[in-house]
Amino acid sequence: MEEIYQRRSIRKYIEKEISDEILGKIIKAGMNAPSAKNTKPYEFLVVKDRQNLQKLASVKPNAYMVKDSNVTIVMLGRKTTEFWKLDIGAVIQNMLLEAAHYDIGSCWIGINKEQEEIIKKEFRVPDDLRIISMVSFGYKGEEKENNNYFEPEKIHYEKY
Ligand SMILES: Cc1cc2nc3c(=O)[nH]c(=O)nc-3n(C[C@H](O)[C@H](O)[C@H](O)COP(=O)(O)O)c2cc1C
Repeated sequence: MEEIYQRRSIRKYIEKEISDEILGKIIKAGMNAPSAKNTKPYEFLVVKDRQNLQKLASVKPNAYMVKDSNVTIVMLGRKTTEFWKLDIGAVIQNMLLEAAHYDIGSCWIGINKEQEEIIKKEFRVPDDLRIISMVSFGYKGEEKENNNYFEPEKIHYEKY
C-alpha cells in the first residue's frame, strides 16, 4: 500500500483549505479503525479557527506546526477498556494514511497529562474524556522522501 511509505510527518503547510468532504473522509477512516470489544472509544474535536489553533500550538514547543495547519484534530478518548489508548492510536494511524491518500500532510502530536489539562480547560472537554494526542493536517509546504525501512534483525521467529 503506497500511502504507508508516502506518509511522513509534515510540519509545514500552505494556505489551502481542506474541503469538508475530504476532512469527513479522513475522520471516517479514523472511525473505521479496529477497537477492543468494538467499543470505539473515540470522539473528535475539530479545530480550524486560527486563534484556537494558536492556543493548541502553545501547549508545548514541538506542537508549533499546529498554528499553521489548516485543521487540527484533538483526539478524545474514553477508557472503555484497558486498551483504549491502543484504539486511539489505530484511529490516528488510519487518519494519517487517508490524509496521505489525498496528498495532505499531517503530524501526530503526543499530549502529556499537563498539556491535556490545559486543552481540556480551554476547550471545555468533559471530565470523562481523555486526550493523549492531536493531529495537524494541511496541504504540504515541504516535501520529504518516502519511508522505506526494513529491519530484519528485529523480526524473531517462533522463539526469541
Ligand atoms: C505518539 C507519537 C507522538 C508524536 N509526537 C510528536 C510531537 O509532539 N511533535 C512532532 O513534531 N512530532 C511528533 N511525532 C511524530 C514523530 O516525530 C515522527 O513520526 C517520527 O519522527 C518519524 O517520522 P515520520 O513520521 O516522518 O516517518 C509523534 C509521533 C508519535 C507516533
